[in-house]
Amino acid sequence: MCGIVAYVGPKDAAPILLEGLARLEYRGYDSAGVAVVNRGLKMRKVKGRVADLAAAVPSRFKGGLGIGHTRWATHGVPSDVNAHPHLDGAERIAVVHNGIIENADELRAKLTADGATFISETDSEVIAHLVARTVKDTDTLEEAVRTALKRIVGTYGIAVLDAERPGEVVVARNGSPIVLGIGEKEMFAASDVAALVRYTRQVVHLEDGELAVLRADGFHTFTMDARETAKETLTVDWDAGHYDTGGYEHYLLKEISEQPETVARTLRGRLDERFHIAHLGGLNLTPHETRAFRRVKIIGCGSAYYSGQIGAQLIEELARIPADAEPASEFRYRNPVVEHDTLYVAISQSGETYDTLAAVQELKRKGGRVLGIVNTVGSAIAREVDGGVYLHAGPEVSVASTKAFTSTAVAFALLALHFGRVHDLSPADGRRICDGLRKLPGQLAEILALEPEIAALARKYAGHPSMMFVGRVRGYPVAREGAQKLKEISYVHAEAYPASELKHGPLALIGPDMPTVAIVPDDELLDKNLTTLGEIRARGGQVLMIGHRAAEAKLADDCLVIPKNETELDPILLTIPLQLLAYHAAVTLERDVDKPRNLAKSVTVE
Ligand code: F6R
Repeated sequence: MCGIVAYVGPKDAAPILLEGLARLEYRGYDSAGVAVVNRGLKMRKVKGRVADLAAAVPSRFKGGLGIGHTRWATHGVPSDVNAHPHLDGAERIAVVHNGIIENADELRAKLTADGATFISETDSEVIAHLVARTVKDTDTLEEAVRTALKRIVGTYGIAVLDAERPGEVVVARNGSPIVLGIGEKEMFAASDVAALVRYTRQVVHLEDGELAVLRADGFHTFTMDARETAKETLTVDWDAGHYDTGGYEHYLLKEISEQPETVARTLRGRLDERFHIAHLGGLNLTPHETRAFRRVKIIGCGSAYYSGQIGAQLIEELARIPADAEPASEFRYRNPVVEHDTLYVAISQSGETYDTLAAVQELKRKGGRVLGIVNTVGSAIAREVDGGVYLHAGPEVSVASTKAFTSTAVAFALLALHFGRVHDLSPADGRRICDGLRKLPGQLAEILALEPEIAALARKYAGHPSMMFVGRVRGYPVAREGAQKLKEISYVHAEAYPASELKHGPLALIGPDMPTVAIVPDDELLDKNLTTLGEIRARGGQVLMIGHRAAEAKLADDCLVIPKNETELDPILLTIPLQLLAYHAAVTLERDVDKPRNLAKSVTVE
């Protein structure tokens, strides 16, 4: 999704902006542009990659003040003209914008009637014209930006510069992230810390409705009614090295391979040997409050939602509290009944997914108590919730989520253990779960060692136009996540069904063209799952079974045996072969693994 970078300081802005934009490429984009100020505005924009933009920027593109953007088209096709920055007619004001301006058509008509000429199809261009209208009559750029933003309905993260005030950049946020980076006599801003960590790890997150003025010697933040705000500086513990492929062919493979370490980090310091409990200091819940909740409702989008389904299962099994998961994108639109004895849990890797954030805000408005399970420290969702658990999985760069999914499921196991031990879970069961969690990093490494075998299976199955994924109860969210991974990175159509539902409809699809990946853990449902395999094969369908027992291998066409953990924790491990299967299918089909078509890493629009 769109990315913003801004710089003000003694160095030339262009190389810093281009480097920052390259760091944002992982979010998905179709065009890019930069503008700098040096005795007037200089701008370059191209449809294509940041490397194409870098090639188009001449060496004399000097100036210590600049803004840059990667665009993901919403209003108007990807093109040089629609790329940001956008300028006013006099080429004095330059603007980059993330988000959507809902009243753009109306503003465009008014501005046109007033003499403005628009050259792009974007909603964003109206901001440049609006700022230009007032900048001549205001003392500060900040005031002109504030006046312009008051006329805008919609979401934005913006950076604005004025060729006649070459010492400052103004940025503002409403629904689309902006983070400031504090350097030595230089200031940065970006939509994502990834663009900043090469230069500084001291950051300040803007809140919705805040605006900041950046100069080389520092920054000031204000509300929309011009009251100055006090901000906390955070130190980011990720550095530029976290954003490299580390010698792997793709970020996705790097992130899949990191999971023994990332899961260890999610667990670190959180398991108590003595009482077999989980220490989760950030929940901000007393034991009394924890016991008072009668229900847990989990929300998240896409893979985050599927990891929430694993979480709901864990909470019901270990804590015996009714729990369920729902897509945040649906929840927020159905005017949900917010109950005061329900604990709400929002999941987000990025912490910026707009649908999840909006659902959290709606819950808070109605008095709901909301925890966050979030990877990105200081992100919007992390700041909005009442407490929560950070994943500590490190930055996830590839568009498809893998290590954050696994760490979220692990965080839910910790949460379920914590809730369970203040309810009915026995010390013996607490110990069993703690021991199981400690075994995970080693078992993850064992599964990763199966990669050559999984790659061969991926090559065998990748040519089919469609695949079915089935699992029962604990295996069902695993099947859903497996289907999601396959379709999003390999573009092979995939359906996920509860194995129990096959005979109620989708069995009609089964045949030689539709192989099935069956999640068959060694649990109390093993026999039922094996019966399902028989039903599929009787209809000519091939079966790839992922499970724990080699003994049943003859019931499938292919079988992948992985290490067994405690039954409740098995879904965490069963997902890993499916990540590798999707990865190798995508490689076999020569897809753009890290940047699948039509998708963005962090969906900050509705
Ligand atoms: C799938 C994927 C998406 C995200 C979803 C939520 O591989 O990456 O489905 O899981 O967009 O994103 P976060 O977790 O950042 O809120």
